[in-house]
Amino acid sequence: MWNFPQILDQARNDLASADDASSLEACRLKYLGKKGLVPAIFDSLSSASPEDKPTIGKGANDLRVLVTALLKEKTKALGALGGGTPCARPVDLTMPGVGPALGHRHVLTQTMTEICDVFERMGFVVVESPEIETEFNNFTGLNIPIDHPSRDAFDTFYLEANDPAAKGRNLLLRSHTSPGQVRVMRDHQPPLAVIIPGRVYRPDAGDASHSFMFHQVEGLLVDKDVKFSDLKGLLSEFCRRFFGPQVKMRFRPHFFPFTEPSAEVDISADIFKGTLRKPWLEILGCGMVNPKVFEAAGYPCLSGRQAAGQYTGLAFGMGVERMAMLKYGIKDIRLFYENDVRFLKQF
Ligand code: PHE
Repeated sequence: MWNFPQILDQARNDLASADDASSLEACRLKYLGKKGLVPAIFDSLSSASPEDKPTIGKGANDLRVLVTALLKEKTKALGALGGGTPCARPVDLTMPGVGPALGHRHVLTQTMTEICDVFERMGFVVVESPEIETEFNNFTGLNIPIDHPSRDAFDTFYLEANDPAAKGRNLLLRSHTSPGQVRVMRDHQPPLAVIIPGRVYRPDAGDASHSFMFHQVEGLLVDKDVKFSDLKGLLSEFCRRFFGPQVKMRFRPHFFPFTEPSAEVDISADIFKGTLRKPWLEILGCGMVNPKVFEAAGYPCLSGRQAAGQYTGLAFGMGVERMAMLKYGIKDIRLFYENDVRFLKQF
């Protein structure tokens, strides 16, 4: 005769300790398999005495029902842990996990931060200036005459003339970061040294080197006896730190209404390993602050002969896209704005 209470207990224990697909399968075979315990008990019915038969039949049935129910429950629990059927997909806890893709800063933000960092280490303070400007700050205050071509409606993005925010002034999207100079000087007395990074807008048709929106970093330093040699030294040091010690540069005379004298700085293409066709590449505009700009900003009139001990200033402005294109060998400005991850993740 079978000891049913003990068999049922054993079955419960076996299934409770089965914790993976193969031990569950072993339990199933032990009890329900062709050579398992349940068929064996049923087989024993033929040789059992008539009084024992009902007990044996009921015991075998109870065992089958119990084992079937527990198997189903366990299989479901294991499936929830491992995903899918436990037999088909055993969980391998040693596999590396699937991490979420983390983004990073855009190459232009990185370049702009890097430029600002170099100047911050030299004592400059980073300030922000708005992208919507008055016509005065963008042009008049910078000594850009009323008939200058860049004031033309087709050369500059003017905002609606009847915009109530304009209050009779003409508002526009700044065409360079230089109006930040006017704002800083209106709010702060010298000495000062600031860096003004940000977006600028010009209605250029887009191509490999033009975009209607791009980024500039402006610099302004006003102190007593600032000389052109200070400007040269400052920008030379900047280029060495940004492009590396082997960089060669030249200052080429130029004209800007807001600086006098003015220059453009070129760097030699040598360091870019033959990727560029021209021998020299322009990277920035600069000069000594024109006394007319000091005047417009409300600084004590510094025009006339420059005496020792007087406040003078230097200013420069560079295109961030230009710097990034040179540094990383990027050939098309449009790549910066298309947000193609295959491009962006290289930097
Ligand atoms: N604002 C000038 C430009 O956009 C650059 C510049 C800035 C030149 C400051 C001189 C001094 O071209």
